[in-house]
Amino acid sequence: MNGFKTVIYEKNENVAYVTLNRPEALNAFSIQMRDDLYEVFRAIKDDDEVRAVIVKGAGDKAFCAGADLTEFLTAPSAVKARQIRSRRNLWKLLLDIPQPLIAAMHGYVLGSGMEIAACCDIRIASEDAVFGLPEVGLGIIPGAGGTQTIPRIIGTARSLDMLLTNRWIKSDEAFQIGLVNRVVLKNELMKNAEETALKIASYNPDSVRLAKYAVIKGLDMSLQEGLELERRLSIK
Ligand code: COA
Repeated sequence: MNGFKTVIYEKNENVAYVTLNRPEALNAFSIQMRDDLYEVFRAIKDDDEVRAVIVKGAGDKAFCAGADLTEFLTAPSAVKARQIRSRRNLWKLLLDIPQPLIAAMHGYVLGSGMEIAACCDIRIASEDAVFGLPEVGLGIIPGAGGTQTIPRIIGTARSLDMLLTNRWIKSDEAFQIGLVNRVVLKNELMKNAEETALKIASYNPDSVRLAKYAVIKGLDMSLQEGLELERRLSIK
């Protein structure tokens, strides 16, 4: 599966690699990228050979510098641009992927870049990573799930600080607030992500999927309901 305009898809030893591939525009998230990612993740979801997925950005400067601003500026309005984007619910698809997703992030991780990362299960950053949510400053709000997914990771107050003030944070602060699981040297980012993916891929795939499912689904439940879900899954 390849030939996408904005995404590179590779698979090796039960690990899938999804590379956001518009380095000349800092991997800005365009409508074409939405369509490409939608196809890639739909295939991944049904591919039992894939046991872990690494999402990364091409080029030296960015994981993803947010929505493609040129598309927003040429659309009749930012809201219109959003309506076109929401015709395919990539974000719901990402959150429904049963295999673990690992974001390997370097450089700029802005707007929808942060939201893509927030849909992942494990976030690894290189030392040069910078995180920010510029949307409100542009007269819009996040539209890729960020108002819901990011507070679930770093809490309400920290999310609102980033969202309402457009304060960009570096990788050390991102680690302190739990936005990323770990920070590594830039030249060790892929090695670290790959080791993590291969370790997950070496485990029983059903156990991995059920553990992820229990945690993610349980977040939307009361403790009692979550415990009941775990009980049911543990005797499957
Ligand atoms: N959409 C479209 N193109 C983008 C982009 C985006 N979100 N972010 C960067 N690019 C393009 C630039 O226009 C530039 O293209 P050019 O070489 O044809 O002029 C290229 O990527 C490199 O970016 P540049 O701004 O020259 O790099 P920089 O190192 O000086 O600055 C940033 C990096 C991230 C600070 C700056 O690009 C920026 O602020 N980008 C917009 C971030 C943003 O607001 N995203 C939207 C979130 S909703």
